[in-house]
Amino acid sequence: MSNFEVIIYKKQDEVGYVTLNRPHVLNAYNIRMRDELYQVLEAIRDDPEVKVAIFSGAGEGAFCAGADLTEFLTAPSPIIARQVRWERDVWGLFLSITKPLIAALHGYVLGSGIEIALCCDIRIASEDVQFGVPEMGLGIIPAAGGSQTLPRVVGRAQALEILLTGRWIKAEEAHRLKLVNQVVPRSDLLPAAERLANKIKAYSPMAISYTKQAITRGLDLSLEQGLELEANLGNSLLALLAGKKN
Ligand code: COA
Repeated sequence: MSNFEVIIYKKQDEVGYVTLNRPHVLNAYNIRMRDELYQVLEAIRDDPEVKVAIFSGAGEGAFCAGADLTEFLTAPSPIIARQVRWERDVWGLFLSITKPLIAALHGYVLGSGIEIALCCDIRIASEDVQFGVPEMGLGIIPAAGGSQTLPRVVGRAQALEILLTGRWIKAEEAHRLKLVNQVVPRSDLLPAAERLANKIKAYSPMAISYTKQAITRGLDLSLEQGLELEANLGNSLLALLAGKKN
């Protein structure tokens, strides 16, 4: 994966590190980044040496300041720009991964940036973080899952208020709204994400994956269906473990 231009991907001690790497434009999400992210997500999904992944942004200014606005302006229309952008289902792939994904967020986390963060399972932010969904101001709606993932994290009323007013959220409020799990000083951001990753990766990858599936898939089900899902996953896991022993 050394031919990447706008993402740095490395593996170390069973952790996959994904860094959005266009710091001169606040890591704005362009088509190249979409294609590279797609490849990185496939690698995380398929590589048994990776048990958990951490997503972060290069530079001091931002995790990601949203879609690259220059691509919006060069396409024949914002609608075509958006179609081009989403023809690869990065977001579906993101949400299908059963390994835990941790977002380490600093600075601006806007538009596609917050949507990437919402595709992750656990979000840690530094004190300088600022979240926003500027789509209303551009006359469009979120298209990287934000209209679905945000209400599932912060609830319907808060999500509507954030999306419809376009107002920005700073660290303290993000923590209060449960948009982020933890707020830490900037210097502790990556170490905090690594501490979490190290705790998680110490456990059985199968148990981790099945637990993530039980929670993420279960949230879209009734309690009864969710309990059935948990029982099915639990039985499959026990069968797998029994098979390994024989
Ligand atoms: N697409 C392309 N370039 C972007 C960008 C984006 N989404 N966001 C920032 N940049 C570029 C700027 O054009 C600037 O480039 P330059 O130095 O060549 O002029 C550089 O990143 C730094 O941004 P700047 O605006 O100078 O920083 P700032 O601290 O004054 O403001 C923001 C930061 C995030 C408030 C501002 O850049 C902004 O509003 N960006 C657009 C956010 C947005 O609407 N995203 C789309 C969501 S769908």
